[in-house]
Amino acid sequence: MAEAVYPVPAEWAANALVDEARYHELYRRSVDEPDAFWGEMAQRISWMRPFTQVKQTSFHAADFRIRWFADGTLNLSANCLDRHLAERGDSVAILWEPDSPADPERRITYRELHEQVCRFANLLKARGVKRGDRVTLYLPMVPEAAVAMLACARIGAIHSIVFAGFSPEALAGRIEDCGSRIVVTSDEGLRGGKKVPLKANVDEALGHCAGVDTVIVLKRTGAAVAMQPGRDVDWHEGVAAQSADYPPEEMDAEDPLFILYTSGSTGKPKGVLHTTGGYAVWASLTHELVFDYRPGQIYWCAADIGWVTGHSYVVYGPLMNGGTTVMFEGVPNFPDPSRFWQVVDKFQVEIFYGAPTALRALMREGDEWVKKTSRQSLRLLGSVGEPINPEAWEWYHKVIGESRCPIVDTWWQTETGGVMITPLPGATALKPGSATRPMLGVKPALVDNDGTPIEGAGEGCLVITDSWPGQMRTVWGDHERFFQTYFTTFAGQYFTGDGCRRDADGYYWITGRIDDVINVSGHRMGTAEIESALVAHAKVAEAAVVGMPHEIKGQGIYAYVTTNAGIEPDEALRKELVQWVRHEIGPIATPDVIQFAPGLPKTRSGKIMRRILRKIAENDVSNLGDTSTLADPSVVDNLLANRPRLP
Ligand code: PRX
Repeated sequence: MAEAVYPVPAEWAANALVDEARYHELYRRSVDEPDAFWGEMAQRISWMRPFTQVKQTSFHAADFRIRWFADGTLNLSANCLDRHLAERGDSVAILWEPDSPADPERRITYRELHEQVCRFANLLKARGVKRGDRVTLYLPMVPEAAVAMLACARIGAIHSIVFAGFSPEALAGRIEDCGSRIVVTSDEGLRGGKKVPLKANVDEALGHCAGVDTVIVLKRTGAAVAMQPGRDVDWHEGVAAQSADYPPEEMDAEDPLFILYTSGSTGKPKGVLHTTGGYAVWASLTHELVFDYRPGQIYWCAADIGWVTGHSYVVYGPLMNGGTTVMFEGVPNFPDPSRFWQVVDKFQVEIFYGAPTALRALMREGDEWVKKTSRQSLRLLGSVGEPINPEAWEWYHKVIGESRCPIVDTWWQTETGGVMITPLPGATALKPGSATRPMLGVKPALVDNDGTPIEGAGEGCLVITDSWPGQMRTVWGDHERFFQTYFTTFAGQYFTGDGCRRDADGYYWITGRIDDVINVSGHRMGTAEIESALVAHAKVAEAAVVGMPHEIKGQGIYAYVTTNAGIEPDEALRKELVQWVRHEIGPIATPDVIQFAPGLPKTRSGKIMRRILRKIAENDVSNLGDTSTLADPSVVDNLLANRPRLP
């Protein structure tokens, strides 16, 4: 079948910030003269002390370092707030839509946001938070989440946001790993009409970890929650007495801004650390160019602030650019599957950025839910977090955008801080399913398993050969792990963990993770993390988790479980294990399938042959490949004979 190509619409080519010719010109400069190019691009930021050094980076062991604009100083909250006050203090910074359409929206201007951030910064200070301290945020999608982030940035504290869907156990692990003294949460969260007991979860988490002396509690639902005297502070009472002024701290460009935990191929999530200057340049530039953003436009990124997309494209990117960012507390299908598009109509959203998994779920509900709404305000659509299948892409384009709106399919990672491979709407002809071409300054390459570069069209492992300003700087508390994880698989290059194909036009097609990470509904999960949760159960001897194709989620979770001797696996145990994993990690890690197996396929040296487990989970069993190296080949027959019915 001929590949569909969607040329750049003429009015986009004529009016966008970057057209095709300009993209090539800028891209060439960005990689040929990175110092000059980035020195210029960084002028978009208000620096307190201008930098004289630009790029000081090496991916090689001998002189490994990643530093950008290192001798400059700045404050990110000042870049998001103070610098806009004179010109657009009264324009709306955050447009908040609550979970229920029956409740009122909130419109917060730059001036109001500035005031709230200063008050909260003063409250943090009053509770003894200093520069460099870690502050854990465990909050629903409410404007105060952005206030807390910006207040941390203002005083130079490092925020670590934990997605409010994570369990108390997962929260405790993250609080402990970064040594937070303070947690900011709310009484409850509200999503899809359901209440989430956030404060109770924090209390439970703090039973498992030491060191937290302050919990600030925002009222969201007004539910009665236990408050521990001395430790727990009511947000509103706490800020009431504080001054509405707090001069921003002068931070070094390489001072840490935030930690965000993400899953890798080991059992323990790693704390991805981003610093201030390079991230500021990267998040603001990518937000402006990828979305062709001009202040005044209503822009909506439907991600949760618990993920990196929420950091860079709900809060920091749009606010640095003086934009109006929509923040949505709810879910796409509550109260009904029109919800997203009703919000688009209500706020006259021009740019909408969402995840393929939500689109696939909505697509299944039928077009009527969409067609009830106008969506005439939409000009541009974006996709993020997982590969978008061409069918969902076409639906997004045709039904949601009525063939009028370009789609930017943006590939990037928690580690990259911002978008890395993407179309620019005025510059790039689109191919459904392809993230297309590199962002300015990004040098992607494909290598085979031995690290040999693949030139021209081909498929291999996706690496990035040189640094970009938004790159993560370290794994919190474990710099060696940072180097080992990303720079040793292919020496001297950043390994993304993704497989990728490049076509004859030089377009990139991400094929998905090639390590032990799976992508469930756009949420990144380490298979090892789910395995550790399963084996922590008293009745489980061994577990292996792989991804399986899933129509809505992209990938589902398929767990093979061997029970301890004397334990008879049954339906009750299956249910118990599902609950167990939800309790250990959170609902996003709910296994879709649990297959009990008396043994797992292992090599004679004891290594689990995941290739075989993946094939069984993918229902691709006609060719399992070479099983002769297995210690006990009959294990595979047993697995095949006892496959559960797939959901
Ligand atoms: O496999 C890629 C997939 O999501 C991974 C990164 O996940 P995370 O760090 O949680 O960040 C998600 C939000 C940026 C990548 O390694 N991924 C992300 N965007 C795309 C994608 N896969 C295909 N196409 C994309 N547009």
